[in-house]
Amino acid sequence: MSKLNNSHKILSQLDAVEWLKSLDDASIDLLITDPPYESLEKHRKIGTTTRLKESKSSSNQWFSIFPNDRFEELFIEVFRVLKKNSHFYLFCDSETMFHAKPIAEQVGFKFWKPIIWDKVKIGMGYHYRARYENILFFEKGKRKLNNFSIPDIIECPRIHKGYPTEKPVDVSKVLINQSTDPGEIVADPFFGSCSIGVAAFELDRNFIGNDIADGAMEIAQERLSKYITTSTKEITEKTVEDINLVPQLSLALV
Ligand SMILES: C[S@@+](CC[C@H](N)C(=O)[O-])C[C@H]1O[C@@H](n2cnc3c(N)ncnc32)[C@H](O)[C@@H]1O
Repeated sequence: MSKLNNSHKILSQLDAVEWLKSLDDASIDLLITDPPYESLEKHRKIGTTTRLKESKSSSNQWFSIFPNDRFEELFIEVFRVLKKNSHFYLFCDSETMFHAKPIAEQVGFKFWKPIIWDKVKIGMGYHYRARYENILFFEKGKRKLNNFSIPDIIECPRIHKGYPTEKPVDVSKVLINQSTDPGEIVADPFFGSCSIGVAAFELDRNFIGNDIADGAMEIAQERLSKYITTSTKEITEKTVEDINLVPQLSLALV
C-alpha cells in the first residue's frame, strides 16, 4: 500500500505550489486537478459564467485565478511528486490547453490526448455554446491504463448551483479507476468542493488535497467527514498514514 510520510495531512490550505513543495519526491500515485486558469476570468467577465457569482460557497463569490505564467512552476512540482510510472490529468478549457500542454511536455510529461467531458446539454453563452471541457491526459514514465475499452469521451451532466466550476464525482471516478489501484494515493492541489477527494474515497483510494480558500476547506471537511469517522476539524490534522493504520478509519471508507 502506498504511504506518505506521517506529516501529510489529508487537507491543507496553502498556495498550490507551496503545498506541492512540502510533499516528498515520488510520493503520489495519481494527480488530478482543475486549476482556476486565467481564461475563466474572461468567461466570467463576458457573462458566460455569471451564474458562478451566485454560488453560496465562496465568500468573495469567486476564487482567485492561477495565472498561466505559473504553470511551469506548478508542473515541475507535479512531475516531481508523482511516482516513476504514473498519470496526471488536468481539467481545462480549450484556450488553456494550448498554454498548458507544451509546458507540461517541457518538464518531462508525455502528452497522450485530451479526454472530453461531455456535459450532455449546452451551457450559457454564444458562438457555439459550450458543452464540453478538456481533461489533458499526461504520463510520467509508463503506466498502463486499467481498462482499454473506456472511450475518450465521458458523458456526465454538469453540477447545477454547486461550487464554482464544480466537477462531477463520476467524471473523476473514471480517471481514478483507470489510473490507480485501491489503496493508492490521489492528490489535488486545487480541490474546490473536493469532488476528486470524494471520488477517491468512494473507490477506496487514499487522498490528499489542498485549496487556498476558507470556503473550499469548509466544504471539503464536510464532504469528507462522510468517509472518515472523525470530527470535521480533525480531518485536516489526520494523515494518510492514520487512515492506513487505524482500523476503524479504514473501515469507514465506503
Ligand atoms: C476551479 S476550482 C476547483 C473546482 C473543483 N475541481 C471542484 O470540483 O469543485 C479552483 C480552486 O483553486 C483554488 N485556488 C485558487 N488559487 C489557488 C492557489 N494559488 N493555490 C491553491 N488553491 C488555489 C480556489 O480557491 C478554487 O477552489
